[in-house]
Amino acid sequence: MQIAIITGASSGLGKFFFEKVAERYPQLDEYWVVARSENKLKELAEQHPRLKVRAVPLDLADTRSMDTFENLLQEQQPDIRVLINNAGFDRPGLFREMKKTDIYSLMNLNVMGTTMVSRLCLPYMSKGSYQIITGSIGSFAPLPWRAVYSASKAYVRFLARALHEEERKRGVNIMLLSPGKMDTAMFHQNSTDSGNMSIQPYLNLDQVTVTAMQKAERGCATYTPMMFYKVYRLLAKIVPSALMVKFTSVESSVPKE
Ligand SMILES: NC(=O)c1ccc[n+]([C@@H]2O[C@H](COP(=O)([O-])OP(=O)(O)OC[C@H]3O[C@@H](n4cnc5c(N)ncnc54)[C@H](OP(=O)(O)O)[C@@H]3O)[C@@H](O)[C@H]2O)c1
Repeated sequence: MQIAIITGASSGLGKFFFEKVAERYPQLDEYWVVARSENKLKELAEQHPRLKVRAVPLDLADTRSMDTFENLLQEQQPDIRVLINNAGFDRPGLFREMKKTDIYSLMNLNVMGTTMVSRLCLPYMSKGSYQIITGSIGSFAPLPWRAVYSASKAYVRFLARALHEEERKRGVNIMLLSPGKMDTAMFHQNSTDSGNMSIQPYLNLDQVTVTAMQKAERGCATYTPMMFYKVYRLLAKIVPSALMVKFTSVESSVPKE
C-alpha cells in the first residue's frame, strides 16, 4: 500500500501540503493526515470522498502517541512515498518569563516529535520516496524573544541536513524547508504585523508547497522560499551571530497580553 503522510495537516501549511500532495500524487492508495484535532482531520477526509484519507489523531508532543503511531505502521506495513514532517508549535516571549508548559510543548513537538516521526517512518520509505521537514528561517540566527523556538528549529535544520546525507545513499531524499512568514494560525497567535515582523513578506503557500515537492523529487537538500529570505539566510551565514542578535530580536512583534 503506497501512502503519503502529512503531520500538522489540520491547518496552515500542512493543510496546503495535503491538498497539493493529493493533487500531485492521485495514484496513492492512502493519505494519512496527522494532528490533534480529530474533527478537522475528519472534515478533510469528508471533503475528498474520492480519496482514501485516513485521519490519525495524535498529540505528537506526547511520547505515548509515538507507540500508537509505531503500532499503526507495523500493522499496516505501508510503503511511504511522501512524508511531510511539518507539525510545529511556537510561543514567543522573554525566556525567563515563559511558562514551563509552553517550553515543554515546544521542545516535545518541534524536537522530539519531528525526530521520532522521522525515525518511525524512515524504515517504511524506499528508493524514490522523500520527506520534507519543516524548519524555519528562525533557525538561521538566534532570535531573542523567540529563543526556544529558534533553537528548536536550529536542531531541526541540523537533523534534516544530516539525515539527507545518510539517506541519499539509498535514494531517499530528505529536504529541509525553511519558510519565512506565513499567514497561518501560528503566525497570528504569536506575532503582530508590527516592528521587525512588518518588513517580512508573506509567502504564497500554493507556490511554496508545489515548489517544495518539485525540489524534493529532484533530490534537493534544502529549500528557502523567496529571495528576501534567501538573502537573510546568506547574511546570517556571513555575519557573526554576536552581531546578528542585535537585529533579530522579535520583541517589537510579540503581542501584548
Ligand atoms: N506561520 C509561520 O509564519 C511559520 C514560519 C516558519 C515556519 N513555520 C513552521 O511551519 C509549520 C506549520 O506551521 P503553521 O504556520 O502552518 O501553523 P498552524 O496553522 O498553527 O499549524 C500547525 C499544525 O500543527 C499541528 N499541531 C500542533 N501541535 C501539535 C501536536 N502537539 N501534535 C500534533 N500536531 C500538532 C496543528 O494541529 P492541531 O492543533 O490540530 O494539533 C496544525 O495542524 C510549523 O513547523 C512551524 O514551525 C511557520
